[in-house]
Amino acid sequence: MENLILAIETSCDETAASVVRNGNEILSNVVASQIESQKRFGGVVPEIASRHHVEQITIVIEEALAKANIVPSDLDAVAVTEGPGLVGALLIGINAAKAFAFAHGLPIIGVHHIAGHIYATALVEEMQFPLLALVVSGGHTELVYMKEHGSFEVIGETRDDAAGEAYDKVARVLNLPYPGGPHIDRMAHEAKRGVEFPRAWLEDSYDFSFSGLKSAVINYKHNLEQRGEKIVPEEIAKGFQDSVVEVLTTKTVRAAKDFGVKQVIVAGGVSANRGLRESLRKALEQEGIPFTAPPLNLCTDNAAMIAACAAYMYEAGVRSDLSMNGLPGKELKSWIGENDNLRQS
Ligand code: KG4
Ligand code: ZN
Repeated sequence: MENLILAIETSCDETAASVVRNGNEILSNVVASQIESQKRFGGVVPEIASRHHVEQITIVIEEALAKANIVPSDLDAVAVTEGPGLVGALLIGINAAKAFAFAHGLPIIGVHHIAGHIYATALVEEMQFPLLALVVSGGHTELVYMKEHGSFEVIGETRDDAAGEAYDKVARVLNLPYPGGPHIDRMAHEAKRGVEFPRAWLEDSYDFSFSGLKSAVINYKHNLEQRGEKIVPEEIAKGFQDSVVEVLTTKTVRAAKDFGVKQVIVAGGVSANRGLRESLRKALEQEGIPFTAPPLNLCTDNAAMIAACAAYMYEAGVRSDLSMNGLPGKELKSWIGENDNLRQS
């Protein structure tokens, strides 16, 4: 494959732009995080996220082009996250991409955020099909089966909270700053023992549920407080993380075996979790199934993953147009297969 893509990602609280060559060579990967300003509110406030994107987007795009040492006429296409995400946040990236594409006469490609997370793998190594992706982020917990490039089948998903959302909510209960995932991860590693919390297996389903676990943590803390007993946050963090990691690992390994995949990958912000990475690596090694976890900066939201995904879409002839809209609930659909008119709906 031969192409040069500029990608923009603004679906949540990172304003990001990146230039990627041939779907695997990162020429630049600029991420302006808003975490510092969202911290004060203990989470992402959509209106504040949008304002930040407006302030940052032009600077971030210019920096991505400058760092890549290219000019717009070198590019083959502009890619942008079309959804899912916060609609106001998405629209800022989409409008910037449209303006850029229009001004420079470039095609525009709308990318699904989760497909982007999965294609972070392509920046590390060639993807091996059939492949199983565990996507765990602040907004998503999904098991996705891919029989080839551009083919996505969601075989399991969360029925309530996303894994990252559960991490952030439990962190809040423990008075930890936003985003809570990394703090719980660190504390879990410091603990000698963990509190015993339930695991939501949902029988044979590949679906997930984390809201019961979150309630169990809240009740446990509440009970100790009422009895005037000492709370050890590290032990709560470890108990919570052990439950999340065990369920994610067990279901992923079972699905990998059931579907006979050649590779398992993990993606999304929560895949930065050391406990989860170690557990998946160990369990899949035992089964002899190759496992890839991209480096941490490619696991959390970034535009290089959007560019990598767009590179394959570009090769397949997929194009969007200037009528593109932000799709907060965009479904993960294959870009090859039955509705293969080489356009996205
Ligand atoms: O993919 P991402 O950057 O944004 C979304 O698309 O949601 O994921 C952000 C999520 C947050 O919920 C954050 O707490 C979680 O990823 N996270 C972690 C860790 N690092 C980030 N969760 C657990 N352990 C970590 N080390
Ligand atoms: Zn994400």
